[in-house]
Amino acid sequence: LDTGNLLYRGKAKDVYQTNQPQQVLVKFRDDITAGDGEKKEIMSLKGYYNSLISAKLFRLLEDAGIKTQYIDLPEPGYMISHKLDMIPLEVITRNIAAGSLLRRFPFQDGQTFNPPIIQMDYKNDEYHDPMLNDDIILALDLASSEDLETIRKITLKINEVLKSFLESRGLLFPDFKIEFGRDIDGNIVLGDEISPDTCRFWDIETCDILDKDLFRKGESGVIEAYQKVANIILDDEDKK
Ligand code: C5P
Repeated sequence: LDTGNLLYRGKAKDVYQTNQPQQVLVKFRDDITAGDGEKKEIMSLKGYYNSLISAKLFRLLEDAGIKTQYIDLPEPGYMISHKLDMIPLEVITRNIAAGSLLRRFPFQDGQTFNPPIIQMDYKNDEYHDPMLNDDIILALDLASSEDLETIRKITLKINEVLKSFLESRGLLFPDFKIEFGRDIDGNIVLGDEISPDTCRFWDIETCDILDKDLFRKGESGVIEAYQKVANIILDDEDKK
């Protein structure tokens, strides 16, 4: 695929300018990182599966009336997207207590949250992505109160749509992280990715972990788990 100028290189994706000013090409790389970038590997086919999974979930959200960056997946690994001015917030939604929440607060392992918990972290490597509160977000001028209200409303809807879809396919959805940006018209739009790199997925029957936690814990079968998630959520027409 013919890529244009590199605009941004992240830990797992590259963003290229296309010949359309308001469109970018997002390349999903095979780099996998954990622990604030300390643990790093290349995992063949990871970008392939993550792009297919993200495209499917973005399309599902679009069908539910949620604006996403997704335009097209010309080939696995490459997503044509709307160009967004990204907001440096990691918006984390939690339906079941897991991960860092259990390390930081006295919740019970597996405790469920209804309504879900929405947590916002500052996407900033230098400061190691600290947890924010609304006052700090406003004082740092990351978003306005109105933006925060919009982000919360969209995030809860995204959680509803994804959770019911995933449960219908036999996957629990304990938590996930999303990022938003602003398009040329100032709309808040879902960007980044939704994949086993950024979500927890557990098999409803066996409670097997099917996400990046396997890599974080140094367990085997990481790419097999990503492949399994892809097979579970993709329909025949999603597999090009
Ligand atoms: O680490 P923690 O348990 O707080 O992660 C919550 C959710 O957010 C997990 O699904 C994890 O994959 C995701 N996350 C992420 N990127 C980060 C931090 C968390 O995708 N930098």
